[in-house]
Amino acid sequence: MQETDVVIIGAGAAGLMCAATAGQRGRRVVLVDHSTKLAEKIRISGGGRCNFTNLNIHPDCYLSNNPHFVKSALKQYTQHDFIAMVYKHGLSFHEKTLGQLFCDQNSEGIIQMLKDEVEQGDVIWRMGTSVLSVAQGESGGFIVETSQETWHCQSLVIASGGLSIPQIGATPMGYEIAKQFGLKIVPQAPALVPLTFQAEDLWAELAGVAIEDAIVSCKTQQFREAILFTHKGVSGPAILQISSYWQAGDTIEIDLIPDLDLQDYFANASREALLSTILSDVLPKRFVQVWLQKLGEIKPLKQYSPKVLQGLEAELHAWQVKPSGTVGYKKAEVTRGGVDTDELLSKTMMSRNVAGLYFIGEVVDVTGWLGGYNFQWAWSSGYVAGMNI
Ligand code: FDA
Repeated sequence: MQETDVVIIGAGAAGLMCAATAGQRGRRVVLVDHSTKLAEKIRISGGGRCNFTNLNIHPDCYLSNNPHFVKSALKQYTQHDFIAMVYKHGLSFHEKTLGQLFCDQNSEGIIQMLKDEVEQGDVIWRMGTSVLSVAQGESGGFIVETSQETWHCQSLVIASGGLSIPQIGATPMGYEIAKQFGLKIVPQAPALVPLTFQAEDLWAELAGVAIEDAIVSCKTQQFREAILFTHKGVSGPAILQISSYWQAGDTIEIDLIPDLDLQDYFANASREALLSTILSDVLPKRFVQVWLQKLGEIKPLKQYSPKVLQGLEAELHAWQVKPSGTVGYKKAEVTRGGVDTDELLSKTMMSRNVAGLYFIGEVVDVTGWLGGYNFQWAWSSGYVAGMNI
């Protein structure tokens, strides 16, 4: 058995940040990951350009059973701290929209930056290494048996991420270790994920149609961004965002024409023009064709009663849809739920009841909005654990 100060399981976003921070503090760190490729999720993130943080990071942009839990870590290591690291490594980036920061080149720059930081901390890498078992040592600390060697360590950090995208290495190991040590788990579900609808609905005809500006609401939450119809249902940023709040059985409401007073618009339009022609000025043509099917043959505006036109407007402003589900972990950006934050100390990420055991990143019941919030959680939680192990 070999001796070290810290073993970190998972060399993704949170694990890399934690390893770099602890290593640079002089801690002896071993970083174990079963994947042979480093940080695949960072590589594929942001369409290959990694939306690595957001200028508007705020605790309200995170879902968790305890909405206050994120505050300490986000304050101890902010988006500006991460941006400073990005500058230090000479990476260029830009704000795309809504404060979202993306690499100018590709995600590889962020991976290389974190790798360099980890190497400055003299961390021992163990990629392509399986964790066979973890246990508490008889004289304290933890024993981590891997496919390469067995380590005894004072601190054990679980950074194995969530369940999304199993094809690139996601496993439930973090949750299993939490359960092994008696920590509660908040039930998990795919989040930031496209929603699906019943096959008999009109979706297939709309596949590929995008509505650039829509307001999607579920319960008390709403997002205003684009939506995109798919063969199975709806996607696009506003839908991905609301999916994190949606639960089976919930109805979502979509305002397809935000801010538009349609009766006013009709009043200024030619009475002789076809209704479909007028609506196609404010909504995609294909959407209008499908949407108006329920009115039968399309006629000039003047032939519709005010009641029909008002009904049309009401439905376009508040379309009620009931998703049948989500496309699941294969396509979900993140996993909602995870290690219950009541079990962890928010200042350090250590277990309240098992001294030396830490959980960071997505494995914890903290889910950020779309737009760099999840990586910032990984950086912040990884940093605070790294400062305390
Ligand atoms: P992460 O998943 O990064 O790392 C976990 C590591 O643990 C992996 O390396 C894995 O191999 C390893 N592991 C798992 N099981 C193990 C086991 N049994 N033994 C050993 N190792 C194990 N977020 C954002 O803010 N901006 C963005 O642009 C995007 N884009 C994006 C695109 C796509 C397609 C996805 C799927 C996700 C995103 N995200 C995102 C979310 C973001 O990728 C995610 O929140 C972070 O990677 C979470 O960091 P973690 O370190 O917690 O897990």
